[in-house]
Amino acid sequence: MIPQTQPPLDEMNTKPTYFIETYGCQMNVADSELVESILLDEGYLKAEDIKLADAIFVNTCAIREQAEEKVHSQLGRYDKIKKKRPSTIIGVLGCMAQNLKDDLLENKPYVDIILGPDSYRKLPDILRRKKLNSTSIVDTKLSRYEVYENLFPRRKDGVNAWVSIMRGCDKFCTFCIVPFTRGRERSRNLKSIIKESKEAVNSGFSEITLLGQNVNSYNSNGVKFFNLLEEVANIDGLKRIRYTSPHPQDITEELLLIMAKHENICNYVHLPVQAGSNRILKRMNRTYTREHFIDLSKLIRKILPNVGISTDIIVGFPGETSKEFEETLDLMEQVKFDSAFNFKYSSRPGTKASEYDDKIDPIEKKKRLQTVIELQNKHTLEKNKNLIGSIQNVLIEKESKLSSNQWAGRTESNKWVVLDKSEIDINDIIPVKIIDARGVTLHGELFDKKEAT
Ligand code: SAH
Ligand code: SF4
Ligand code: F3S
Repeated sequence: MIPQTQPPLDEMNTKPTYFIETYGCQMNVADSELVESILLDEGYLKAEDIKLADAIFVNTCAIREQAEEKVHSQLGRYDKIKKKRPSTIIGVLGCMAQNLKDDLLENKPYVDIILGPDSYRKLPDILRRKKLNSTSIVDTKLSRYEVYENLFPRRKDGVNAWVSIMRGCDKFCTFCIVPFTRGRERSRNLKSIIKESKEAVNSGFSEITLLGQNVNSYNSNGVKFFNLLEEVANIDGLKRIRYTSPHPQDITEELLLIMAKHENICNYVHLPVQAGSNRILKRMNRTYTREHFIDLSKLIRKILPNVGISTDIIVGFPGETSKEFEETLDLMEQVKFDSAFNFKYSSRPGTKASEYDDKIDPIEKKKRLQTVIELQNKHTLEKNKNLIGSIQNVLIEKESKLSSNQWAGRTESNKWVVLDKSEIDINDIIPVKIIDARGVTLHGELFDKKEAT
């Protein structure tokens, strides 16, 4: 962890400062921590106020149009800051840098640096060059090898440490921009992952989440994902392990058995289904059928009783008929997910699906999204109500947003629980009796073992 003490005032006056904002998935959060580590090593300090930073970076996401719009509006804000303080360097990092460099160069001349996700090691050199050079510097070359081996991130204090284990995606789902913005799949070696994980545990983190765009296609010199997971589970003092995002195609029985064997691997699987119709799944290039997915969810529940299963769903993929949409609803009824991230299909230029001309009307997409959300809310509440009266191990993570007298923590199955503060503290894992379920949040109380006797 970085020492949180304020540097001496004379250092604050002489050292350059940075500010970084992050959009998108956890991979981007982890990448921003890596960039911070590079900047701190280079002698930069973190600015408390964006308006006073010498360099402002935005780590961007291109997954849906809405994600890009947010970044465009932030860039407008940075432009205003730069007008007041022209020496400010503005850098665009990540997936949009990769994807929209031409547009940025043409329409946003105030952007000084554009760096794709595989180019962060070059940042110190680029910052030095930028001081001598007034034109924008672009580096968006994707690498077949870069996994930022032995470059450890600077983490903020907290409970969970993100550990990136693989990068890129070779699946090429027809709707998805990630294979273009992140490039080919490559895995980091086991030793370096274990070293970083041990360091995180030694500096006080209770939980590690292994990260990758396709986390379970990890393969480093024959070490498969389930091997890696077992090695991480054996780290002394590590209380909890999670991983995200897996692809259903690469969930194997071996992996589920390792999850069942180790108590510190959380009883939770994020299993993105995307759609419930075989024709649409095929058109999405998802490589599994609805039957396979339903069978897989049954196998998961058999090997991991009380497991939490969440998913991602896209509605209104090109050509999706109302009947096909109903197959998604039917699949949801059959699997009964604990929670779901639901999205309207967003056309991404450059992907195969963006060329399909049977796009669904936006109003219809909105209606379908609403239907999926309502059904999922019903299932989430049903699932959560079933937990009333049960005892769950909860890792206390932060103060509840609802009240400063309450903690919020997660069950192994990834459900948020709110409970009154008592002698327990952040980073404790405690038994909690669930007393109520409202919406997505559970309410509980510290379980006194004496009660049970
Ligand atoms: N690698 C993960 C997903 C990463 S992207 C996997 O395969 O499961 C996260 C989610 O964003 C996807 O699961 C998908 O549901 C959604 N998504 C991706 N591209 C999208 C698009 N063009 N429109 C709408 N949602 C999209
Ligand atoms: Fe995108 Fe599919 Fe790769 Fe996931 S598996 S990142 S949805 S292409
Ligand atoms: Fe977005 Fe890139 Fe992640 S497109 S979802 S930040 S991999």
